Amino acid sequence: MEASTLVPAFALLLLLLPLAVIKLLKPKASHPNLPPGSFGWPVIGESLEFLRCQRGGCPEKFIRDRMSKYNSPVFRTSVLGEPMAVLYGPAGNKFLFSNEGKKVALWWPSSVGKLMGRCLVSKVGDEARSDKKMLMSFFNPEALKRIVGVVDEVTKDHLRIHWEGKDQLEAYSTLKQHTFDLACRLFMSITDPQLVSRLADHFHVFLRGVIDLPLNVPGTNFYRSKKAADSIRKELRVLVKQRRVELEKKTASPSQDIMTHLIANGDENGKLMPEAEIINNMLNLLFAGHDTSSSTLVLIIKYLSELPYVLEKVVAEQREIAASKAGGELIQWGDLQKMRYSWNVISEVMRMTAPVYGSFREALVDFTYEGYTIPKDWKLHWSACTTHGDPDYHPRAPTFDESRFEGSGPAPYSYVPFGGGPRMCLGLEFARVELLVFLHNLINGFRWSLVNPDEKIIYDPMPIPVEGLPIRLRPRD
Ligand code: HEM
Repeated sequence: MEASTLVPAFALLLLLLPLAVIKLLKPKASHPNLPPGSFGWPVIGESLEFLRCQRGGCPEKFIRDRMSKYNSPVFRTSVLGEPMAVLYGPAGNKFLFSNEGKKVALWWPSSVGKLMGRCLVSKVGDEARSDKKMLMSFFNPEALKRIVGVVDEVTKDHLRIHWEGKDQLEAYSTLKQHTFDLACRLFMSITDPQLVSRLADHFHVFLRGVIDLPLNVPGTNFYRSKKAADSIRKELRVLVKQRRVELEKKTASPSQDIMTHLIANGDENGKLMPEAEIINNMLNLLFAGHDTSSSTLVLIIKYLSELPYVLEKVVAEQREIAASKAGGELIQWGDLQKMRYSWNVISEVMRMTAPVYGSFREALVDFTYEGYTIPKDWKLHWSACTTHGDPDYHPRAPTFDESRFEGSGPAPYSYVPFGGGPRMCLGLEFARVELLVFLHNLINGFRWSLVNPDEKIIYDPMPIPVEGLPIRLRPRD
């Protein structure tokens, strides 16, 4: 085993040990017809291999190896200190997405719920439905039409300040800064750079403890993460108070951002969201929508540098749109609808390297899947990476081919970068706006090349280039 794998593996062992000991003390129900598979080593289960595959850049290997070993559409394992069934392919995705709230419910490691508090991702059933509905009214296409111009403005400012005049930059960290700035501006109308920078510093610490053992003792990532979350909440509490006053004075409008929307609008019964939950939901949106987008943007840059014939067509499409605009005119919703080829390319980037490798559910009851019993409380995993690499649904799966998305595109449940069913990504349409607007400005402003064409992508837990993807830059014209 390489040293780079041993260190996180050892850390994981330390993290899981107390949790596993607690679990071993629990009596185990006996179930005669469990899916084939192995719970692996005592205490750590198969977590080390799960982790090794992610750090090696191919999380799907963990699943593929077991699918071929057991020759079954479902297998059992134990990762993250939990007994787990992994359901394979479009059929597994369909089962989990369409049984939300019936046989299964969204599950995140307990650290997530403890840090986020009561908000969309820590709720299930009707409560989650109600929160999602309130948030969706800001993220639906009608509402997003109003913000495309702002996204364009913020993107242009970012490129002018951080990219123009540079010969070289580290793409990943720069893009992270951009997606964070954009989220602060659009979700909460924060324009003060010092506040953005303070929030970004806290957020950086916060992220390290989100998927971790929830040990709230000094020295642990979780402890630091909790402190950082408290600091973020303190800043946001001040902001909420300020927005309330502005709303009363009518110097802010209920539709200017998600925060004012949640302050001013109730749920379907007119009940207002408690202030603490508004703040938790803002924290959650920053968490869910920031790294996913920066990771996707960095992958787009990497793939386009490796595929000159694809880049050429993206350039042609984006230049035509730029040429149709008067000088200084911002991108509008209608322009995004013309970026069909570019969106197919982005979709293929997300198929080749899924920004979110998959996620988890919990069994609400004992149920049968493909003839096997899945006991209540077991965790379930669906995998976007594995589904996207399945040659039965994506012929020549390892080859980049954006034409897969022409016409009706991939078969249902075979392309799932944003999940599916009631817990599908809330920010899908927002991400489309963010990614296309960035691509438009990047393409029209710059040419770039990779400093290290062999730079590896690993999952941690999102795909990231190990060296941060340094690129050489030149203005396009
Ligand atoms: C390319 C970018 C993105 C990708 C690939 C992505 C992917 C995903 C996936 C796979 C899920 C479903 C998890 C599950 O089924 O358990 C999800 C959920 C979610 N995403 Fe995204 N996401 C992206 C961007 C965003 C953005 C920009 C936002 C915020 C505006 C966002 C907010 C959320 C939220 C709040 C959820 C939880 C929904 C729920 O629990 O009902 N995402 N995302």
